[in-house]
Amino acid sequence: MSLREDVLRLDEGFFQDPYALYDELRETGPVRQVLMPQGVYAWLVTRYADARAALADPRLSKDVAAAGTLMQTNREPGSRRPEFGGELAAHMLNMDPPDHTRLRKLVNRAFTARGIEPMRARVQQITDGLLDALAERGEVDLIAEFAFPLPMTVICELLGVPDADRESFRGWTSTVTSTAPFEQIQAAGMAMAEYLVKLLAHKRTAPGDDLLTALIETSEDGDRLSEVELVSMTFLLLLAGHETTVNLISNSVLALLRNPEQLAALRADPGLLPGAIEEFLRYEGPINLATMRYTTEPVDFDGIEVPANEFVLVSLGAANRDPERFPEADRLDVARAPSAHLAFGHGIHYCVGAPLARMEGEIALGSLLRRFPDLALAGDPVELVWRESTIVRALDTLPVRLSATPIDPVEV
Ligand code: HEM
Repeated sequence: MSLREDVLRLDEGFFQDPYALYDELRETGPVRQVLMPQGVYAWLVTRYADARAALADPRLSKDVAAAGTLMQTNREPGSRRPEFGGELAAHMLNMDPPDHTRLRKLVNRAFTARGIEPMRARVQQITDGLLDALAERGEVDLIAEFAFPLPMTVICELLGVPDADRESFRGWTSTVTSTAPFEQIQAAGMAMAEYLVKLLAHKRTAPGDDLLTALIETSEDGDRLSEVELVSMTFLLLLAGHETTVNLISNSVLALLRNPEQLAALRADPGLLPGAIEEFLRYEGPINLATMRYTTEPVDFDGIEVPANEFVLVSLGAANRDPERFPEADRLDVARAPSAHLAFGHGIHYCVGAPLARMEGEIALGSLLRRFPDLALAGDPVELVWRESTIVRALDTLPVRLSATPIDPVEV
């Protein structure tokens, strides 16, 4: 059989509910060839042990600059997809050592638990401000009104990005992480690149006590950070700093509202919150599929050989529901023992923003639950739409009822 004959198409149904397919694949084809909606062939890894090993395997490269021709050979004939490369792509998540190591070092310290601790009071203040503005409202889209503006404001303040343009930025980032048509992704990428170049030029004339100013100063020594790397780094931090945490907040709220006994347990014992955040990350984490890697030589996964020069997609969502690793993996359990989930990845690309995301998640969830004891889903949860993205596990909107007016319990 030729390499491309037994290929599984990742379609609309997969994005709305990937878990049924994951259950089947972990059993029958744990490393399986798939065709992504963008027309790219890849090998999908679904078991926890394989996923963890793949994420730390140096034979799986993320060196995008060297991957250009692979996009041609691993693509469905006639399909179009933005090329790897371009001025937003020269960032650490697209690089192997030693470039990865050099770039990561430049920002690592700013994002350690100690580095972000001074932000705690401000994150609480931003949260309280957003919740105050909701107090009088009955029904809202929790994503537009809370889950998006909170991490967006935090990462913009940390970097030193002015308030203006945040909404446009949200539109661009949700397009580039989607499976939208080629032209739309290309246009959003260009708009974003132009915006970032202007932003950095402005920052140069108006430096501040912020991370962008520090990075601009570093870039004056081009050996440490080139101009194109500076633009790409800003792009990565802005994108990764909000696209994911939005989903942590909204997916956690949805999981709780669909599991009222777990919500009650958390309300009864707020001390469970840090562990509950880890469980939300495991159960319905913000990233479904890790960013693409490719094999630089043949790689064997438990007897299944992926040839050299093939793309590999590691499913964090599938690994985190692997019953071999997590008892009753499909059950949300806010009191679950610490579980070494893979929601933040693993190995050298392990999420640099994990301490910040955890802090934001705890403050957001804790404050929201305290403030709105009658929080409930509004509308029919069956109508919730998941975004068609091969990266994020993200709802489009999350309509909720905040007010204390009596409501029918939601059956799911
Ligand atoms: C709950 C929220 C978040 C989740 C679930 C998450 C998840 C991840 C994952 C899975 C990776 C690795 C991807 C891969 O190996 O393909 C990653 C990398 C990264 N994340 Fe996050 N992230 C979150 C929040 C943040 C925040 C707030 C920032 C803020 C700066 C951030 C910045 C980054 C960066 C810069 C990388 C690349 C690291 C590298 O290549 O060494 N993330 N994240």
